[in-house]
Amino acid sequence: MKYHIVTYGCQMNLHESEKIAGILREKGYDEESSLEEADIVVFNTCCIRENAENHAFGNLGALKKLKRAKKSLIIAVGGCMVQEAGKAQLIREKFPFVDILFGTHNLYELGELIDRKKSQKKAVLSVPEERKETEDGIVAVRTSYPNAWVNIAYGCNNFCSYCIVPYVRGRERSRKKELILEEVRDLILKGYKEITLLGQNVNSYRDGETAFPELLDEVASLEGEFRLRFMTSHPKDFSEELVAVMKKHKKICRVLHLPAQSGSNRILSLMNRRYTREKYLEHVRYLKQEIPDAELTTDLIVGFPTETDEDFEATLSLVREADFASAFTFIYSPRSGTKAAEMEGQIPEETGKARIVKLIDLVNSQTREKSKKYIGKTAEILCEGYDEKKKLYLGRDSYGRMGYFESEQSPVGEFVTLKIVRASGISLYGERI
Ligand code: SAH
Ligand code: SF4
Ligand code: F3S
Repeated sequence: MKYHIVTYGCQMNLHESEKIAGILREKGYDEESSLEEADIVVFNTCCIRENAENHAFGNLGALKKLKRAKKSLIIAVGGCMVQEAGKAQLIREKFPFVDILFGTHNLYELGELIDRKKSQKKAVLSVPEERKETEDGIVAVRTSYPNAWVNIAYGCNNFCSYCIVPYVRGRERSRKKELILEEVRDLILKGYKEITLLGQNVNSYRDGETAFPELLDEVASLEGEFRLRFMTSHPKDFSEELVAVMKKHKKICRVLHLPAQSGSNRILSLMNRRYTREKYLEHVRYLKQEIPDAELTTDLIVGFPTETDEDFEATLSLVREADFASAFTFIYSPRSGTKAAEMEGQIPEETGKARIVKLIDLVNSQTREKSKKYIGKTAEILCEGYDEKKKLYLGRDSYGRMGYFESEQSPVGEFVTLKIVRASGISLYGERI
C-alpha cells in the first residue's frame, strides 16, 4: 500500500511528517508514491500566516476528484491548522470528504485513528486540547539524508503578540536529555552528517540541571564526523554560556539564527519580544567579538500594527548594523485569537508589500556582498544531492550557503572542499579540490 504526505510550514513540521511516515509504515503503507497513486494521503498543515492556510485549503480542494475516483482512498489532515480553534469544524464543512482530522497533540495516535476509520463509515475527528504523550518511540522515516532533525523541545510559552504557535502547539516541554543523546548517537552511527536540534525556543531548554548550553556541549562532544545546528534561539534568552559552547566546538556551525522581528523598540514592545534593539545589537557584538567568523541570520516582520515609516526605517538600519548574512522576511498576517490581531492600527496590505520589497532588496544586497567575498577562497560543503536542472551536485557550507560543483561519482553525504570560482545571489559555484 502506498502513501503520500504533503507538508506545510517549518522544520518542526517537516520532521513531524517523517514521524507520520513512520506511523504509516507500521500500518502497512510501505511505499511512498505520487498523490495520484496513494492509498492514503496525509496533509500536515501550518497556520503561521494566512497564506499558509490558503495554500493548504487550495490543495485540499483538489483532492475531491481523487477521492471520487478511488473510494478506498483515505485522506487525513493534521498539524497546526487543525489544532487552531474552530478550524477542524471549518475543514469538515468545506471538505466533507476528509476521513481523519487530527491535531498536533495527538500525532502519535494517527495509527489508531486510521484503524478506527477503517472500521467505520463516518469521518474520525480527534483534536485534543492537550498532549498526553510524546512521539518518543515512533521511528521516523527520514527523508533528508545526510541531514537529520532532532526535537529537543515542543511548544512555546512566549506568546509573542502576533504568533499563533503557543495556541496550537501548547506549553513548552523539554525532552529528556538522555533520549536526545541516544537519538543523536544513533543517527551518527547510521551515517548522518548534520544534526539540527529543534525547538521553538531552544534557549529555554531544561531537563533537571541541564540547560541548553550544557545540552549543546554534550551533543557536540559526541564522537564522529558531523555538524551541529540548532534553531530557534530567542534573543531574550541569549547567553554568554551559549557562545562559549559554540566557541569550544568546531562541530557547531558558525551561524546563529536569532530572529529580531523588528528594529524598533516601540514595535518590539508591542510584539512582547522582551528585548530592545540595543540589547539585540549587544548580543551581535558579543558573538562576533568571541567568534569573529560567526554569522547571523534572522526573521523579520514588516507591517505589524501601528508600524510607521520611522519604525520600518529602524528595521532597515538594524539589518545594516547587525550585518545579517540572510533573513526570512514576512508581511505581518493577523492570526485570530492573538493579541496583535485585536490591536488598533492594522496596516494596509499595500504598505506591507511596499516595505517588504525594500527590505528584501537590502537583505539580498548584503547577502550578495558576502557571497562575493567567497570568490577565490575555499568552502567546505556537505553534499546533499544532485540538481537535475543545473546538472551539478549541491550542498551547504557551515553557514548554510548553497554550493554547486561537478563530480564524477556521487559524493552525497560527504564533506567536500570547493574552491569558489563564481557567486550568484546566495549560491556559490566551485571546483572540487
Ligand atoms: N519560534 C521561532 C519561530 C516561529 S515562526 C521564533 O520565535 O523565532 C517563524 C517566524 O514566522 C517568526 O520568527 C516570525 O518572524 C514569523 N511569524 C510568526 N507569526 C507571524 C505572523 N502572524 N505574521 C507574519 N509573520 C509571522
Ligand atoms: Fe511564536 Fe514567539 Fe514562540 Fe517564536 S517565541 S514560536 S515567535 S510565540
Ligand atoms: Fe511550524 Fe507553522 Fe506550526 S511554522 S509550528 S507548522 S504554525
